Amino acid sequence: MNGRYTLTIIKPGAVRRNFTGAILGKISEAGFRFVALKMLQMTEAQARSFYAVHEGKPFYEGLVQYMISGPVVVAILEKEDAVEAYRNFIGSTDPSKAAAGTIRQLYGSDVRDNAVHGSDSDEHAQFECNFFFPLYERFPGEK
Ligand code: RTP
Ligand code: MG
Repeated sequence: MNGRYTLTIIKPGAVRRNFTGAILGKISEAGFRFVALKMLQMTEAQARSFYAVHEGKPFYEGLVQYMISGPVVVAILEKEDAVEAYRNFIGSTDPSKAAAGTIRQLYGSDVRDNAVHGSDSDEHAQFECNFFFPLYERFPGEK
C-alpha cells in the first residue's frame, strides 16, 4: 500500500445537499488523483461492517442509520502520503471545529453529518479500498 492511497466517502447528507460536484472538484484541485469512483447506497450490513471499529460506541447506531439514509459516493484517491494529506484536507470530525476552507467546515452540518469520510491509517485504507473496490489493484492508471 505504501501510503499512496486513501478511501473517501461523500456521505448521504452532502449528496442530498447536492455538494457532490463541488467536493469532487476540490479533491481534484488539491492534487488527489481518482483511481476509482462510484455512487451507491450502502446496505445496513455493509455500514455495520464498514464501521465495525466503532461498534459499542454511543454514536454507532446513529452513524449506521445515517450512512444508509441515502446514496453515497465512494472513491479511491491517490497522492503521496494520501491518508494524512486527505485527513488534513477534510478537517476535524466536528465541522464547527474544522479549520476554515476544509471540506467539513465548508460542507458539513454537524459531528455526524460531516460531509465526508477519510481512512485513518494505511492499514484501514487498504481494507476500505478493498471493501468497495475488490479489484482496484488491477485497475489501470498512470504510474
Ligand atoms: P470518518 O471515519 O468518517 O472519516 O471520521 P473521523 O475519523 O473524523 O471520526 P470517527 O471518530 O472515525 O467517527 C466516525 C464517524 O462517526 C460519526 N460520529 N458521530 N459524537 C458523535 O455523534 C459522533 N462522533 C463521530 C461521524 O460521522 C464520524 O465521521
Ligand atoms: Mg474515522
